[in-house]
Order: sequence, then C-alpha cells, then structure tokens
Amino acid sequence: KLRVVSGVQPTGYLHIGNYLGALRQWVLNQDKYENLFFVVDLHAITVPQDPKGLADATLSAAALFLACGIDPSKSTIFIQSHVKAHVELCWLLNCITPMGWLERMIQFKEKARKQGENVSVGLFDYPVLMASDILLYQADLVPVGEDQQQHLELVRSISKRFNSLYGKKKKVVFKEPKPLIQDSTSRIMALDDGTSKMSKSSPNDNSRINILDPPDTVKRKIQRCKTDSFMGIVSDPVGRPECTNLLNIYAAFTDQSLAQAEATCREMSWGQFKKLLTDALIAYLEPIQTKYHELRKEESYLKQVLKEGSEYASSIAQETIGKVKDCMGFVGTD
Ligand code: TYM
Repeated sequence: KLRVVSGVQPTGYLHIGNYLGALRQWVLNQDKYENLFFVVDLHAITVPQDPKGLADATLSAAALFLACGIDPSKSTIFIQSHVKAHVELCWLLNCITPMGWLERMIQFKEKARKQGENVSVGLFDYPVLMASDILLYQADLVPVGEDQQQHLELVRSISKRFNSLYGKKKKVVFKEPKPLIQDSTSRIMALDDGTSKMSKSSPNDNSRINILDPPDTVKRKIQRCKTDSFMGIVSDPVGRPECTNLLNIYAAFTDQSLAQAEATCREMSWGQFKKLLTDALIAYLEPIQTKYHELRKEESYLKQVLKEGSEYASSIAQETIGKVKDCMGFVGTD
C-alpha cells in the first residue's frame, strides 16, 4: 500500500474548507492507503498562541479526525510534538535548505506582511518543518488543499537535494512525495468574499462555517453571507465568485457534481437556495458534532488513541532518523 501523510494546524477550529480540502479525502481513501494523520502543534506556534487555547484546539482537532470518520484501526493519528523526530529532522534539513527557497514561499510572505516586525524565525522555517513531517515517514502521497501546493513542491526539492548530497551509491534516502489535491474542493472560499480563501485565521468568524458551529450559527452565517443581485443560482467563477463557491459547497455536502447541483438550483432565488444550503450543512454536520462531543466528554479514549499513534509513528520516524544521520556522518551510540 502507498503511504499517505497529512496534518492540520490547531491555530483555531477546523472549518468546512479544511474538511472538504483535506479531511474528507483522508476518510474516503482510508482503506486504499496506509495513513498517518497528525495535529501540527509545533507549526501552530510559529505565530503567537495562547497556551490554553493551543491545548484545546489541539485536542479538538484530534477529536474531529475521529468524529469525521478516521478509524484508528486503519489510520495512525497523533500529535506532532509527541514525536520528537520531527524537530530533529527539521534541524538536519535546515542545514541543507537554501534560504532563498524559503524566501519565495507565498504563505510566508503573506503572513510576514501581516505581522510586521514580530515575525519569528520559526515562521520562516515553517516549510522545512513541514518537509520533516512528510519525509520522516517516507510518504508517497500528501492529501491537501491547493494552498499547500507550493509547500509540497519545496518538500520535493528538499528531498531531491538531500538525496543528491548524501544518497550513497545512487541509493535514495528520501522518497519524493506527491500532493493529492481534489479538483472541485481544493479551494473553498470565504463567505464574506468569494475571491479569498476560507481561513482559520481570519478575524471575522462569519467568513467561515466551522465544523462545530451549532445549527443556529450555521443558519445565521448563511443568512448573512455575501451574495449578488443576479437571477438564479449558477456557477460563474469570474462573474459570480460567491455564488459559485456556495453552489460548490452545496454540491460537496450533498454528494453531487457541480453540474447536478446547478441543474437543481438554476431557477432558485437566493432565499430558496440559502435555505437548501443551510439544511444540507446542518444535516451533514450534526452526526459529526454528536460524535465529537462524546469524545470530548470522556477524553481518556482520545488520549489513548493519540498515545498509541505517537508510539507507532515514532518507531517509523526513528528508522528514518537513523538512516539520515548515518548518511550525514554522525557517530552512532552503539
Ligand atoms: P492548515 O491547517 O492550514 O489546513 C489543513 C488542511 O486544510 C486545507 N485547507 C483548505 N482546503 C480547501 N479550502 C480551503 N479554504 C482550505 N483551507 C485549508 C489545507 O490545504 C490543508 O490540507 N501546512 C499545513 C499543515 C501541515 C501539513 C504537514 C500538511 C503541516 N505539516 C504535512 C500536510 C503534510 C497547514 O497549514 O494546513
């Protein structure tokens, strides 16, 4: 089986963009691949985090993995910081990664612009830690949303560079993982602006539907979301970005193609469509939320799953670390 590796940041609570871009694919392909999924708490601290908030968001994300259908008997789930090798490999890769490669990263440039003078070295190094997350497990495939594409290209470049510098007698040390990006839902847009990505870090909570939003919140957010004054609900990415995005979300949550959803909604008014979309979202999210709240009420099960996950992940990670350090010339302890 090919190995799949992916993660989410606990920098807030997961939204339907994270679900449609990443988690849903993880669940759908769970039987096809060998899977490792993790909550990347070390990535979260590249921007300021409140300690209590970080702990809660970390456990919340892990519980959502399970609530959304990740089955611990089929997939390994864990918290990134519980496997120390991520940080160790990050340092080793830092030393072979040119600064210029990181300076080109769009996400860094965007986040750095917002933060002004307080940008941390960690934020700059974020993509190398991500490379470590992936290369540590010799991943074949990385299911992510479109915003991670550039990071994935960098991971491949780092892998190639390491192999060419240290691969002995043409034997590769790292695989070159490929991104797995779903066409239709790889970029879910914000509710208040159909031209910007739905994001955990937007200060406006009304710009996103969180997976854990209760029914009345979903209803209110859809009621208030940005619309337009055209007739009918049709897809028109350039002329009607908000309409296209909402139709796409509706299609995804009702398991239809965009064309099928369009056929149903073409003649509708905004009022009719919003009601349909609201009902579909609430119905879809309800069982996930019920399962989530059960898991959070009695956390010992969740913590046990995470503990076993990190033990298994560590055993794979240690093998890679041993190989990498050996290639680089570190003296072993035995
Ligand atoms: P993060 O936490 O921002 O997002 C988690 C996943 O959700 C996808 N995503 C979206 N997909 C569609 N539409 C959107 N609006 C949307 N917003 C987010 C992201 O592409 C991602 O797949 N750097 C990563 C976390 C990470 C990681 C890794 C991922 C760290 N190490 C190793 C894969 C493998 C991130 O910030 O994702």
